[in-house]
Amino acid sequence: MFAGKRIILGVTGGIAAYKAAYLLREFQKAGAEVRVTMTPSATRFVGTETFAALSRNEVAVEVFNNENPGKNWTKHIQWGDWADLFVIAPCTANTLSKIVQGQSDNMLTSTVLAARCPLLICPTMDGEMYESSSVTENLQRAKAQGHYILEPTEGYLASGLEAKGRLPEPEEILKKAQDIIKKHRIKGPLTGKKVVVSAGPTREFFDPVRYISNPSSGKMGLAMAEAARLSGADVTLLHGPISLEIPDRIPRKSFVSADDLFNLIKENSDADVIIMAAAVSDFKAASVEKQKIKKENGSNELKLTRNPDILEWLGNQKKEGQILIGFAMETENLKENAQKKIKKKNLDWICANDLSGEDSGFESDKNTILLLGTDSEQTFSGSKNQIAKEILERIFGKG
Ligand code: CTP
Repeated sequence: MFAGKRIILGVTGGIAAYKAAYLLREFQKAGAEVRVTMTPSATRFVGTETFAALSRNEVAVEVFNNENPGKNWTKHIQWGDWADLFVIAPCTANTLSKIVQGQSDNMLTSTVLAARCPLLICPTMDGEMYESSSVTENLQRAKAQGHYILEPTEGYLASGLEAKGRLPEPEEILKKAQDIIKKHRIKGPLTGKKVVVSAGPTREFFDPVRYISNPSSGKMGLAMAEAARLSGADVTLLHGPISLEIPDRIPRKSFVSADDLFNLIKENSDADVIIMAAAVSDFKAASVEKQKIKKENGSNELKLTRNPDILEWLGNQKKEGQILIGFAMETENLKENAQKKIKKKNLDWICANDLSGEDSGFESDKNTILLLGTDSEQTFSGSKNQIAKEILERIFGKG
């Protein structure tokens, strides 16, 4: 239900804070990656360690890092960019009031302000508080600000009274969260489609400190991933060792060697669209030395063996309706070589890249690509971002 989705779980200082641990597990079981931010008072109800262990991530409570001043103090911005949904459960009257006023006095409220994603508030408090005119007014204001509210349920409360104020059951919260995510999906030709993009070089180590690689920067692959995301896709970027900063909003997994990438591709071979922009090394060392090769006893020959052709493997077992897009890096006979690769690898499209051209190739921000389909061709020139957008529009339409 939440495969590939990223959720920030905000926990505030109410007795129902302990239930947030169960909620976190349910989100995870449904496939979500969850990060937790707590208000300082929430930590009096449940320790940060509980959430850190369950989420396998650090729990954000303080904006400032007392042990290491200045370090990582923009985490609220990064998290706000990273998430698909922010759920505050339980949300106290105090945090609700801060949210509607735009206060940002702790990590949780700062992240609310920074978040680009929708916010689901689950107000949870004693019945009298919930019925108070201030809370009623704040809930209306929160709705008017575009936030989602899941009303508390009636039942036995910590005060011993029976009233409306309980945190709804996890399944109800998950259902509401799913509706919100669906509603906020970017609408485009790839909405609801799983798209996997590979980018960057592979490294084939032959001893602990040396490897065979290529100068691929990953720029074109990253541009394709972002363009797919903006077309509505649930995109995952598989990237090799690159120095580019990947925006937090793009889910990613890293690889080093072609074999690592092959494993990631196998795990994701059910994708609707696979775009192989990675510059995969065709060869690896026949054997990898455990210790650094010393020049005294090193030979002047390096024995190589072939890497798997990942795209050809995908082409051989292409599932119905799946679209495979390859890249061809050529220094001569661009069109002929690219056409051969379309056939050999059973591709739908290939983006042929002339590496000898001016203003194109690995490091450049610009590129010229000849897009070949099985019976069509078109050339695109310009910035890699612009080209990526145009290529996807050409293949999938404007939506
Ligand atoms: N590719 C792959 N696995 C490999 C080599 C390449 O999946 N072992 C993919 C690349 O990601 C690219 C396409 O195949 O999408 C073409 O890559 P390219 O390096 O241009 O061609 P090769 O097939 O390796 O052929 P050659 O090096 O002989 O041109």
